[in-house]
Amino acid sequence: MTTADIYLAFADREARGVSPAYERLSRAVARDEELLALLDTLPPAKRQPNLLFGVVRLGGGPVDDPAAFRAYVLARWPEIAAQMRVRATQTNEAGRCAALLPVLAALPQPLALLEVGASAGLCLYPDRYAYRYGDRLVGDGEPVLDCVLTGVAPPARRPEVVWRAGLDVNPLDVTDPADLAWLDALIWPEHRHRRERLRAAAAVAGSDPPLLLRGDLVDDLPALAARAPADATLVVFHSSVLYQVPPARRSAFTALVGTLPGHWVANEDPAALPHATLPEPPAGGFHNVLALDGRPLAWTRGHGQAATWFA
Ligand SMILES: C[S@@+](CC[C@H](N)C(=O)[O-])C[C@H]1O[C@@H](n2cnc3c(N)ncnc32)[C@H](O)[C@@H]1O
Repeated sequence: MTTADIYLAFADREARGVSPAYERLSRAVARDEELLALLDTLPPAKRQPNLLFGVVRLGGGPVDDPAAFRAYVLARWPEIAAQMRVRATQTNEAGRCAALLPVLAALPQPLALLEVGASAGLCLYPDRYAYRYGDRLVGDGEPVLDCVLTGVAPPARRPEVVWRAGLDVNPLDVTDPADLAWLDALIWPEHRHRRERLRAAAAVAGSDPPLLLRGDLVDDLPALAARAPADATLVVFHSSVLYQVPPARRSAFTALVGTLPGHWVANEDPAALPHATLPEPPAGGFHNVLALDGRPLAWTRGHGQAATWFA
């Protein structure tokens, strides 16, 4: 794929209907030979729309108007390129817990949660958030995570979590204002509710920070899993991580996770974690596949706003 193709695919698959500002910007970048030539000076993994737009937002640049965005990027390219080289897209979306909850609540309790690719660890608190599935509320407090659930009943209660730990190649700290500012910059411009949710979830995580280790999801997983209490159900889980992992390492991870005790919950792009057979995805944009121990169960929207069960 050329860089122009990547920006067009982002506009069509991810931004359309979800972020008009980013759809406009990505289509404008895809047509702009000068911006494309600058992006092509970066390593392929660093040319992504989310990374460019996040770095511009972090610096206070304009993302509403493609002409102003273009002028800003051209005037500051060396700083922007330097930031894009050292940063990665690490969007941490507590809302994804709403899609995971029916699976987590149905496993033998209590749980020992181990998240790989945890970012700042906000998905490690499914027992502390509140959920609204239509008119059904589960739990209380803030944030309240809304999810349109189809094909499965909402869980009666939240899971019981007695241990939580995360691994990430670059763990973020929600009590550090600089890390929180980067997580905020990664949220798409129109998504004010997600920005509020980030603050509320960061307050939950910050009041009882998780065990969050710098490490790789293959090399460092067995040692961390061995620290989980034996009298709880170990759940190794991940959400929107494997697209960042090279294919050979994905295979090494899936082979490894099958050898661990407990359960494996994946919420991933099926292009990164394929399944033998899947029904057609629901209409309305990009969906991940939620799977338990390798068995696909549901299509889930990218930020946990909907989950459609098919198994
Ligand atoms: C898009 S974020 C998703 C964060 C979180 N799972 C969520 O759903 O909100 C992907 C995370 O995976 C991490 N990651 C990428 N490759 C990894 C690897 N090989 N081992 C551990 N973490 C990795 C990144 O640093 C990033 O924080």
